[in-house]
Parts: sequence; structure tokens; C-alpha cells
Amino acid sequence: MKILIALAGVLAVAVATPASVPRKVLCYYDSKSYVRESQARMLPMDLDPALSFCTHLLYGYAGIQPDTYKMVPLNENLDVDRAHANYRAITNFKTKYPGLKVLLSVGGDADTEEAQKYNLLLESPQARTAFVNSGVLLAEQHGFDGIDLAWQFPRIKPKKVRSTWGSIWHGIKKTFGTTPVDDKEAEHREGFTALVRELKQALNVKPNMQLAVTVLPNVNASIYYDVPAIINLVDIVNIEAYDYFTPERNPKEADYVSPIYTPQNRNPLQNVDAAINYWLQSNAPSNKLVLGIASYSRTWKLDSESEISGVPPLHTDGAGEAGPYTKIEGLLSYPEVCAKLINPNHQKGMRPHLRKVTDPSKRFGTYAFRLPDDSGEGGMWVSYEDPDTAGQKASYVTSKNLGGISINDLSMDDFRGLCTGDKYPILRAAKYRL
Ligand SMILES: *[C@@H]1O[C@H](CO)[C@@H](O)[C@H](O)[C@H]1NC(C)=O
Repeated sequence: MKILIALAGVLAVAVATPASVPRKVLCYYDSKSYVRESQARMLPMDLDPALSFCTHLLYGYAGIQPDTYKMVPLNENLDVDRAHANYRAITNFKTKYPGLKVLLSVGGDADTEEAQKYNLLLESPQARTAFVNSGVLLAEQHGFDGIDLAWQFPRIKPKKVRSTWGSIWHGIKKTFGTTPVDDKEAEHREGFTALVRELKQALNVKPNMQLAVTVLPNVNASIYYDVPAIINLVDIVNIEAYDYFTPERNPKEADYVSPIYTPQNRNPLQNVDAAINYWLQSNAPSNKLVLGIASYSRTWKLDSESEISGVPPLHTDGAGEAGPYTKIEGLLSYPEVCAKLINPNHQKGMRPHLRKVTDPSKRFGTYAFRLPDDSGEGGMWVSYEDPDTAGQKASYVTSKNLGGISINDLSMDDFRGLCTGDKYPILRAAKYRL
């Protein structure tokens, strides 16, 4: 009897102990950052302080050549030509970090020329073959350890949280559109399954090549990802559960961009937990699922009609002003956000100052805002991830025993350590809580 009790105890401990396999930390490097200016310009060597925290480094992004359907470098000069040869510069980090896996990511919304080619490729077995053969060759030639399919599927249509000003919709049903954005959904779903199978077969011939899939923001996974059919073929599923609201898609209404759980009266499918649950409920092994964390913020302009409380959802007037370094409307890097926040000790920071509103419930995320001045200028509302909320997402990952996190991307984290002196604070905070 005693032995049985002891045995039961041992078993209970064994069951309760989390998997001993260390969790994955996928670090995305968006090569567009190479051509930004001044403080925002990131060179491959700037990655070095991040890499001891990363298990995977993903080069973003390769693309598809429209007429041949081959996988190709999106920026030949930067990626592969001798002068820069960034592909090689990135895969060479494996010498210094022998455990690091470096994958080549394709798509990722960086490949904007002839957007339809992502659909067309899935409809044609010949096009898939051209893509698979060229992709494996490209990865192999430059020393990559595999490929990440960040497939540019059609997006869910943006929807308003409120019907008319002031009244939040209570009939949640009404917020679901029924018109499909893609009249060949089933064909594209099957084509993607075939693509994954064919790419896996081609990668299998090479030693130790990995295959990842990335679900881009606002792609409806339940339409395009046939989980039972693909899950055993892929090593990693990276779920980019953010950008549920963006100034481009939702110019007149701002809301939390990446809540972990559903805020009141919102679409219950547009949050981290719902995105993860789709895969878990389809019996994906939890250790293959990686939760994407965005290191950039989304920003909107507030005007005289915006609610003065700042509480979302709120009325907005399009994208917020571009950041001084990244120079993209409606977006700020994390160091650009932190420079704008009012520091209670010094009252310094860049104009316009923003007041930070944290979320004690740890469910929805942080925002910061500034109301317009008397002339109606300068109002801004920002939904963003900071080290605290990134840590909360990492805790969510451990609570669900998921495979890990991804950071999208390193160039939008504070890679120079301008906020507090620590380089890569978002990456660090998330890694620390895994
Ligand atoms: C995704 O597609 C499913 C199945 O067609 C649908 O029920 C669901 O509402 C869609 N999700 C969103 C967020 O639109």
C-alpha cells in the first residue's frame, strides 16, 4: 500500500511537472529595417544581443515570383548579392550560437506585388512544384535550417464594434459578416494542405530541415488550416494573434489590438485565447503552437468627437502620425512609444506626451493616449505591447503548456536600449516568463 501511495505521488509529480523541453523563442528579423534611417536602422550585427534569448531566427521575407511561382529573395541586392549578402550574414550566426535554427520565412505581408499569386499558386500543382523546388534550393544554398510559410491568405473583413455612435452592439451575432472574401475557400484550403505535404517531402530529403507555418493577422485559420491534415507535417505553428484592429482596416474606430481574452461586447473570436483554442480544439499538440507577440504599436488620431475617457472602443480619425524614425503612419516601434510616455519623475519625453493606461486585469493590454488640444490637434491613441504585457502573454503560454512565443519583429523592439538601457526589453521580458 505504502509503495502504491509513493508511486502515485511520483506519478502525480511527473504529470504536474511541465515539459522539460525548453520553450521555443522565435525571433523574426524583418530585413526592411536595414533600409530605415538613423535610430531605426538595424544591421545584422545588431541582432547579436538578442540571439542568446532566441531558439529560432526567422529571416523576413522571401517572396514569390509572379510568373514562375518560384520562391525568390524579395530584395536581391540586400539578401543575396555579394555587397550585403544578408541571408548569409544571418545564417552565419549559427557559428556563434550553435543551437540556433535559422529559417527563411516567405510571405509575411511583405510580398505585395500581385497579391493574387498566393491564391493562384495553391490552385496549381505545377506552380506548387516550382515553389517547393526553388524554395528548398534557396534555403539550402544560403545555409537555412528550414522554411516558414507565412502565407498571405485573404483576410477577414474589418467590422465595427458599434453600429452607431454611442451604442455598443449587444447582439454579437450581428457583428459576424457572412459574405465570404474568397469564393474558392475550399480549394485554397486543400491546396495549402497539398503544399505543406509537398514541401515537407522535399525538406525531408535534406538533413534536419524544419517546416513552420505562420498564421498571419486577420486570416481566419478555421477556413484555411486543416489542422488534422497538416499538424503532423509541421514542426511549428506560429499564431500571430494581433492586429485585430489597425488604423488601415479600422480608420474610424480604435480598440485593443491584441487582447488575451474577449473584452465586453466584442467579437469573441478576435483575441489570443480564441486563436489558440482553434488549434487546441482541433487536437494540435500544444507544444507545436507558438504565440506571436508584436513589438510595434498601432496608433490612431483622436479628434474632437473622440471620447475624452480614452477607453476603447473609441471614435478616431484615421492613422496616427508616423514615428520620427520608423516613419510609417499608424505605427510606432516600442522605443518610439516609450519616448512619448510621460515619465512621472522627469516629465520628459517627446511631444506629444501620452498618458499610459495599464490593465490591472492583465487580460486586454495597455494603451496610451493624448486628447487633442483646443485647436483639435495632437490627439493620439496607441495600443501597444510593453515588457509587462509581453510577460503576461508568456505566462499565458506556460499556463496552456504551449510550445513558446515569437517576437515580431526584433527591429521594432528597443534593440538599442534607448528606453531603459536594456536592449530588447520586450523579448527579454517574454523570455524571462516562459
Ligand atoms: C471564421 O470562419 C468560420 C467558419 O467559416 C466562421 O464561423 C467564423 O465566424 C469566422 N471567424 C471570423 C472571426 O470571422
